[in-house]
Amino acid sequence: MGTAIATCVVTTAREGRVLVVTIDNPPVNALGVAVRQGLWAAIEQAEQDASVDAILLLGEGKTFIAGADIREFGKPPQAPLLPDVCNRIEASPKLVIAALHGAALGGGLEVALAAHYRLGLPAAKLGLPEVNLGLLPGAGGTQRTPRLIGVQAAAELMLTGRHMGAKEALQVGLLDQLDEGPEVLTAGLAYANALLAQKAPVRRSRDAGALINQAASQAALKVLKAETAKKARGLFSPLKILEAIQGAIDLPFDEGLKQERALFLQCLDSPQRAGLIHAFFAEREVAKVPEAKAAAPRPFAHIAVIGGGTMGAGITVAALDAGLQVTMIERDAESIARGQAHIEKVYDGLIAKGRLTAQAKATIMARYQPSTSYDDLHDVDLVIEAVFEDLEVKKAVFKELDRVCKPGAVLATNTSYLDIDAIAAATQRPQDVVGLHFFSPANIMKLLEIVVPSKAQADVVATAFALAQKMKKTPVRAGVCDGFIGNRIMAVYRQAADYLMEDGASPYQIDEALRTFGYPMGLFQVVDLAGGDIGWAARKRRAPTRNPQARYVEISDRLCERGWFGQKTGRGFYLYPEGARAGLPDPEVLAIVDAERARKGITPRQFSADEIIRRYMAAMINEGAKVVQEGIALRPLDVDVTFLSGYGFPRFRGGPMKYADMVGLDQVLADIREFAQEDPLFWKPAALLETLVAQGVDFDSLNHRE
Ligand code: 3HC
Ligand code: NAI
Repeated sequence: MGTAIATCVVTTAREGRVLVVTIDNPPVNALGVAVRQGLWAAIEQAEQDASVDAILLLGEGKTFIAGADIREFGKPPQAPLLPDVCNRIEASPKLVIAALHGAALGGGLEVALAAHYRLGLPAAKLGLPEVNLGLLPGAGGTQRTPRLIGVQAAAELMLTGRHMGAKEALQVGLLDQLDEGPEVLTAGLAYANALLAQKAPVRRSRDAGALINQAASQAALKVLKAETAKKARGLFSPLKILEAIQGAIDLPFDEGLKQERALFLQCLDSPQRAGLIHAFFAEREVAKVPEAKAAAPRPFAHIAVIGGGTMGAGITVAALDAGLQVTMIERDAESIARGQAHIEKVYDGLIAKGRLTAQAKATIMARYQPSTSYDDLHDVDLVIEAVFEDLEVKKAVFKELDRVCKPGAVLATNTSYLDIDAIAAATQRPQDVVGLHFFSPANIMKLLEIVVPSKAQADVVATAFALAQKMKKTPVRAGVCDGFIGNRIMAVYRQAADYLMEDGASPYQIDEALRTFGYPMGLFQVVDLAGGDIGWAARKRRAPTRNPQARYVEISDRLCERGWFGQKTGRGFYLYPEGARAGLPDPEVLAIVDAERARKGITPRQFSADEIIRRYMAAMINEGAKVVQEGIALRPLDVDVTFLSGYGFPRFRGGPMKYADMVGLDQVLADIREFAQEDPLFWKPAALLETLVAQGVDFDSLNHRE
């Protein structure tokens, strides 16, 4: 290498006629202000040096550039702005080449698109994922991408936010050349020198011609607009993306860029951007728990799953997919055969869809051993129990595990509600017991509550977090209580919904309000999907300890008594005529609701969608605050991630606690106090909420305590 000038995060070095510009801003080379300044200076340096003919842009570490620095959003912008940096790169009279060996995302891809030529290595991933953050590509991406690859392909990239592999990028024309690598510097220099040798011209994406057929571009965009308006479900930025692309078709390049900037700023100002970016960081923060920082995980290459029912089978598939060896234990030959059939059904479904080969299934299944004998567990590293939700049955299983498992094996339970301290106490090794609460279907749902009983050792908790990472789950640390974080809070807002129903709102009206709020399904649709019998069993279990003073709505029990458990029985809150998955309103359910109101002497009243949401959310937030206050959740963000990844909470609202911050905690508290006038027992404000309001701070202030 020739002489090197360092500007800290961007370094330049001469290599013959090429100026190599390396971005080194760990962990992902985000385009913070220092990087933008460094890039600007590097281009200037190249232009002033007559002996430089080409500029090669590279990223240090695993990524090219992962995009704008998300932490800067919401703060005052600092020059040079990224769109200006991109324009500066594109305008350079010297040949600019970007060499992509890893992720080139958002602003990172926009920098590459501003270069004159793009080289990819096999691990390159190209994407414009701004939509996932409530934004649109704001550094020329909405203008350059359609000019390079056409409206359809560009819009698909921006609307889905997906990452495109190097081969496909070459095919569609985002990359000009592929190199097998492995060295990005060597490959980049070879490409740059080859271009110089060919006297390749400076070639600007702004002049690329994929939009030349106006009529075809307009027609494609019209279809996309209609489809997106239907699918956007309250989301703001997808429609703005299409507006910006419209500008790429209709306006000269510089005008299109101006319009893109204006639309980008609208997105930046939207509460959806704040919610989505909170979700992005919260999902990364949840895994940072004291135990995972303090202790190294134990090994867990070979695990056992006890029970091959709904959950056991799903957990087994998740573990097999993560490359683990799994022994499944069931009670008898018939049950183990049923368990295996559940697992094979998942893989056969993938084969039918062409997403797996029979050979790959055989390779996966080679890591699976069925058994009916606990003695086969003497060598396993970790056990996940998923038998019936019955404390005595679980205690018996754990006694057996204590007898057969090797010392140091981690013993986990998938219980939904039961006291894990009591389960741990059934063994001689409570320090090795932890809760691993998966959600159904366990091979698909991202959320994994890691429930930490009082005696659990730090390395057991660390092992649980490492397992979650291996299984690509989103882990949330929870303390022991009835229902942990998610189901405990759900039980309370479910009650609020039941009160609304008994007081005058129909279940269909409540579900409609929730869908409009952004949920993919309403609460009563979810009850029907999960099976009404599950909640019924929990209510019966809690009946002996229920406060007789507390209001109790019996409508769901009336449905369950009739055997109306939801989709699986063909009716629940909704009717499911043969084969139909979406439910139809059921007049008989409304009659039952009416009868219950009459029995209790309640005169139904009208509820607006707004009041439904205010009550539903106030109940959720208030219980969320109690969960944080009691230390069941470490931080408000743990509650947010639980609901985002396990309960369908609309991502653009950031989670219930972030939503509360955006509404204003004083407003939420005022609502709770107003509702408390009808029912002070149910609507008792959380002490934490009162304290935060008194201090004038929000939930987010608790997310950043060390
Ligand atoms: N800005 C700031 N920090 C970022 C970041 C970004 N763009 N992308 C990732 N990070 C941080 C993460 O918060 C995390 O920090 P932590 O270690 O303190 O928790 C760290 O980088 C590593 O990230 P991951 O844990 O996600 O690492 P992975 O290796 O799993 O994934 C990735 C890497 C694929 C690059 C992933 O981080 C990612 O998808 N990042 C976001 C990409 C993105 O959305 N870019 C668009 C930004 S918006 C934009 O560019 C606007 C422009 O059009 C003007
Ligand atoms: P399930 O009834 O489908 O399966 C339980 C299985 O355990 C049955 O196949 C049964 O044969 C087996 N089993 C019972 N006793 C056993 C023993 N001593 N040894 C070996 N196998 C035994 O139940 P499901 O739904 O899979 O639930 C299992 C556990 O997961 C429960 O604790 C439940 O609360 C929890 N859970 C359930 C969720 C759901 O949505 N179904 C979600 C999250 C947790």
